[in-house]
Parts: sequence; C-alpha cells; structure tokens
Amino acid sequence: MIRKAIQRSRGLDIVYEVKSAEDMDYEDNFDVIFCNSAFQFKDPEKAVRNCYRALRKNGRIGVQAPAKKVYCPNFVEAIEMVRSDDRTKWTFAHFKEPWFFLETAEEYRSLFEKCGFNVVFSKIETVTTEHTLEEVFKVFSTGAVVGYLNQDCYDVELTEDYVSAFKEIVKKAFERQSDERGVVRLKFNRLFLVAVKS
Ligand SMILES: C[S@@+](CC[C@H](N)C(=O)[O-])C[C@H]1O[C@@H](n2cnc3c(N)ncnc32)[C@H](O)[C@@H]1O
Repeated sequence: MIRKAIQRSRGLDIVYEVKSAEDMDYEDNFDVIFCNSAFQFKDPEKAVRNCYRALRKNGRIGVQAPAKKVYCPNFVEAIEMVRSDDRTKWTFAHFKEPWFFLETAEEYRSLFEKCGFNVVFSKIETVTTEHTLEEVFKVFSTGAVVGYLNQDCYDVELTEDYVSAFKEIVKKAFERQSDERGVVRLKFNRLFLVAVKS
C-alpha cells in the first residue's frame, strides 16, 4: 500500500513512514490521524497514548475498525468449522488470536478517554454488504488470514496440509452461507470513533 502511495504521489511533498503505532515517538506533529481497519494493536493503550502525543492541540483522530469478539459472524462461523473438523482441530487448538476487540462503544470510549482524549462520538454498527463467493474469500484472505494462518499465532508448526484443509473448510462454510444467487451477506460489527486532543 505504501509503495503504491509513493508512486501515486510523486512530486507531492509527502513523507511516508512504516512503523508500529506502539513505537511512534511523534510529539505535537499532526492535525489528523486516521486509522482504517487497523486497530488490532498488541498494546492498544500504548498505541492510543502515542497517537495523543503525536497530535497537536485540537487535533483529531478517527477510527473505523472491526469490533466485538464476533467481529464478523460469517468468518466466526467458518472458523468454528475449522475448530471442529478432524483435519484441523488439533492444530487450531494451538491458535492464539492476535486481535484486540472490545465489546461495546463505551469500552472504546473509555480507552480513549483514559489516554487523554475528548471522545466526540463512539458507536458500533453492524454493516452488511453483499458479495460473490469469490469476493468473500478474497476479503477473508487479505484480512483475517493474516492472523489465522500466521505461524507466529501458533505454538505448533503449520503444515501445508493444515493450510489447504483450513482454506477448503472456510470456502465450504461460505458456500453454505450463500443464497441461490451465490451471494453471501457479509456482516461486520464496526467501530466508528472520533476523538479530539483538547
Ligand atoms: C486490515 S489492514 C488495513 C489497511 C488499510 N488501513 C486499509 O484501510 O486498507 C490492517 C493494517 O494494520 C497494520 N498493522 C498491524 N499491526 C499494526 C501496529 N501495531 N501498528 C500499526 N499498524 C499495524 C497492518 O500492517 C495492516 O496494514
């Protein structure tokens, strides 16, 4: 994404940096921070505190990200099938979820307030979109798979057999969720939050 952004903004005075939110050491540098679908920090409080420090007075942060443990009922249902399938259940029992989710908008509000922010609004909405089976699998593969099939999230070795069985089971689950047109209604619980450094 950053490589593409650099190509597209050639000639403009924009600086790009890639680093963990937990490692940011900016101080009073920015007017706006926008975090889209990337609130899965290992240490969320540290990340939010670093964002607070990085903003100038009256600077704002906007967050849109999956929320709640059941962040996407479609994906969670597919994963339950992985959890119980004979081909995958042993290895999956060693999976440790890397994501950070809170259950309510109030809990997200409290986290930001604890870090000094004045929260303008915080809400969780269920957003439903319709997709072909191919699209759903692509959404799953470009996002959730980064965790579910990440060796760092397992304390046993991921084998090729496990990875291919995992993908097969998930595809089957999405097929079961599709209607007669082959369309899946994909539901995501999403956090929308805006906060100000006042
Ligand atoms: C689902 S992608 C969203 C990417 C992009 N913001 C978008 O809207 O398409 C999640 C992103 O969060 C990044 N990420 C994961 N952990 C992070 C951390 N601790 N600090 C900053 N970014 C992180 C990942 O590298 C990945 O690019």
